[in-house]
Amino acid sequence: MASDDIAISIRNLTKSYRLLGHPGDRIKQFFSLGLKQYHREFTALKDVSLDIKKGEIIGIIGRNGSGKSTLLQLICGVWKSTSGTVQVTAPFNPACTDFGWEISLHIENYNFNNLG
Ligand SMILES: Nc1ncnc2c1ncn2[C@@H]1O[C@H](COP(=O)(O)OP(=O)(O)OP(=O)(O)O)[C@@H](O)[C@H]1O
Ligand SMILES: [Mg+2]
Repeated sequence: MASDDIAISIRNLTKSYRLLGHPGDRIKQFFSLGLKQYHREFTALKDVSLDIKKGEIIGIIGRNGSGKSTLLQLICGVWKSTSGTVQVTAPFNPACTDFGWEISLHIENYNFNNLG
C-alpha cells in the first residue's frame, strides 16, 4: 500500500508485446487454441519498481527503445501490464496524443511530458 505522499507507485512492472510475423497470424493464433504459437514475445520493460511522490518532477531518460513511452503508457492505462502493478493515488488527467506516442501525464499541477 502506497503511503500518503506517494502519487504513483510502480511495482515489478513488466510489459511484453506480442510480435506477429504476418497479419494473418493473429487469426491462426486464435484458432490454434494455444496449441501452436504464431507470435513471439518481446519484453520491452522488465521488473521496474519506483515511487513518485506528490509534487515531484521526474524525467525518464534512456536510449531509444529502452521503454520510456511504454512506461508512461502503462501509467496512463493505455496498455495493461504483463505483470506487476501501477497504483496512481493522486488525481491525474492523462492526455494521450498519437504523434509518435507522445504522452502527457498531469498530476495535480505538474506535467510529466515524454517527447520521445
Ligand atoms: N506496440 C508495440 N508492439 C511491439 N513492440 C513495441 C510496441 N511499442 C513499443 N515496442 C517496442 O518496445 C521497445 C520499447 O519501446 P518504447 O517506445 O517504449 O521505447 P522509448 O524508450 O520510448 O523509445 P524512443 O526513445 O525511441 O521514444 C522498443 O523495442 C519498441 O520497438
Ligand atoms: Mg518514446
